[in-house]
Amino acid sequence: CNFLKEKSRKEILEILVAGLARQEYRGYDSAGVCIDGDKPGSVVFFKEVGKVAGLRKQIAASTFDVEKTTIAQVSIAHTRWATHGPPSTTNCHPVRSDPNSDFVIVHNGIVTNSTELRFVLQKRGFKFETETDTEAVAILAKYIYDSHEGARLTFTDLVKAVLKELEGSFAFVFKSKHFPNEVITARRGSPLLVGVKTDKKLKVDFVDVEFAGQDNEKQLDNLSSPSALLAVPSPSPKVLRTQSRAFMSEDGLPQPIEFFIASDAAAIIEHTKRVLYLEDDDIAHIAEGELHIHRLRRQEEGSQTPSQAAATRTIETLELELAAIMKGKFDTFMQKEIYEQPESVVNTMRGRVNFDENKITLGGLRAYLPIIRRSRRMVFIACGTSYHSCLATRAIFEELTEIPIGIELASDFLDRKTPIFRDDVVVFVSQSGETADTILALRYCLERGALCVGVVNTVGSTLSRETHCGVHINAGPEVGVASTKAYTSQYIALLMIALQLSEDRISFTPRRGQIIMGLHALPGQIKKVLELDKTLEQLSATIVKNTSLLLMGRGYQHATCLEGALKIKEISYMHSEGILAGELKHGPLALVDENMPVIIVMTQDSLYPKVQSAYAQITARKAQPIVLCNEGDEGIPKECKTIRVPKTIDCLQGLLNIIPLQILSYHLAVKNGCDVDFPRNLAKSVTVE
Ligand code: G6P
Repeated sequence: CNFLKEKSRKEILEILVAGLARQEYRGYDSAGVCIDGDKPGSVVFFKEVGKVAGLRKQIAASTFDVEKTTIAQVSIAHTRWATHGPPSTTNCHPVRSDPNSDFVIVHNGIVTNSTELRFVLQKRGFKFETETDTEAVAILAKYIYDSHEGARLTFTDLVKAVLKELEGSFAFVFKSKHFPNEVITARRGSPLLVGVKTDKKLKVDFVDVEFAGQDNEKQLDNLSSPSALLAVPSPSPKVLRTQSRAFMSEDGLPQPIEFFIASDAAAIIEHTKRVLYLEDDDIAHIAEGELHIHRLRRQEEGSQTPSQAAATRTIETLELELAAIMKGKFDTFMQKEIYEQPESVVNTMRGRVNFDENKITLGGLRAYLPIIRRSRRMVFIACGTSYHSCLATRAIFEELTEIPIGIELASDFLDRKTPIFRDDVVVFVSQSGETADTILALRYCLERGALCVGVVNTVGSTLSRETHCGVHINAGPEVGVASTKAYTSQYIALLMIALQLSEDRISFTPRRGQIIMGLHALPGQIKKVLELDKTLEQLSATIVKNTSLLLMGRGYQHATCLEGALKIKEISYMHSEGILAGELKHGPLALVDENMPVIIVMTQDSLYPKVQSAYAQITARKAQPIVLCNEGDEGIPKECKTIRVPKTIDCLQGLLNIIPLQILSYHLAVKNGCDVDFPRNLAKSVTVE
């Protein structure tokens, strides 16, 4: 949204399309834009299935007068990842309420009661043109607006009334011809931020939050169920007078200002680094160059401020650099991120590992260490690759802390309604900090009074804000859908937590010293592993025609096999399975014959003899395994194809072993002609359940 800031439509469209392109990595199947048209209240849509590049082409080819300039404009854009209705230009957002586009909205998340809303609205005679859950929300806005015809309902009150009818998760942007040059954005469960750009200095660097008053609430409560919608009251709700502090320049004069609403800072970083993260149930209203924040839920009786939400939102200055989200000399983000690992692991340890004194200091946990040390059990909760980082570090965590560790996939944890108690410590691991299942699991544990610790990459994300304490892994932005550098950094972050927790145990001093020495050597060893690229490319050529691939190992390397298999299947679409070598005889051995490619992880740790026997069992069935082993290991039969990595200590070896598998998956994907950064059907940040 721009106010008093002259911009051509061309510039505005470019900002929107470039912003969508910067968020491409989140995964999507269609993209769309809505911008004001020539006649007052008219809007123009551009929508395209597939890549943002296609949308850009469509805009370039249109006859729309893009040179026309404007000093006040609200335009919205969206990339959609289909949940209700297949990818199509009709289902693509922005979604309108009616052919006149009275209301136009974009939505992330899922409205779980959209079927009921649709039913009620259809009964009232409204026609739906899409299969999306979002359209019910746009039409509901129109319905409520039309029902109050003649009465003055503010845009904020209208959206509040709409949101109160919704169940599920959302981040919305609402635009309306009834409220020109105004925009409303609101969230519950899905990430959302507002960037502010102005040439003048802002008088305040925070925004007061306004909590809804009683009268207003009562009026709007009349709409509290879909059936009640059939009897919307005609008297308008009392107009709420806003008390919020808005943006002002120091001289108090109206100033040219632009606001950027996005679900991810990457989309707006090239325009402004000043952002305000919205909380669940925040409704931000932007009009006349001012930003006001309202709360959907009213203040609790008798309290000055509601228990959950703070009374102000601060404008933060991001440290994220544009270069960090660009590909640079690499063909893909995934390749860049694999190659960043010698530096990203250093960034995870920076300021935290003192190699001279063998000491770990994790500032974000300091106050909570005694509570964690006293706990009788810990539970690690995550999804996807983050879950594998938990598995990879469980053994060393249990060894160093002597606390039993349970590991849970967030969705399953919730499905089982797992018992959680006040004295539990629960660790939530997430690259994005926005994975819906992990966030729901966090809220479940918060409600039960457990101490909740976050291990998160994205600063400012929901998980990092809602946990009691935690550690940022500081791996830098990860863009490729297939997670690589976040895995190695999560692994190190969890290991550092275990090291810090065990610091009061004198008997573990030698073991801690050995691990910290190993961490010191790690970046150099990762660089050596990256030199295997050519060899791995050649190896990929020998297996690319196969339809399936098995990866087996045990102990610390079971997680390596699961994560390696996940990388291969998600980006190259080749079926692959990580197998615990100890379970071989209980099923997977039936798959092994001379045609089945097998990678066996046989690096030298205490389980080496047991993996050797697994090797014997599969070669006896004519398999010709590729052996992932240590440099200089003479015990590997000469005829074997090998991937040789430097040796480190047992609990760190998985950090080196995963990298050749990341590189192998990359080459398999390229050879299969797959889009490495945007694998089909997958999203980087899964913000829906
Ligand atoms: C998606 C991504 C994976 C990621 C998983 C968990 O499936 O494609 O790369 O591991 O979500 O995401 P999180 O951000 O919570 O680590």
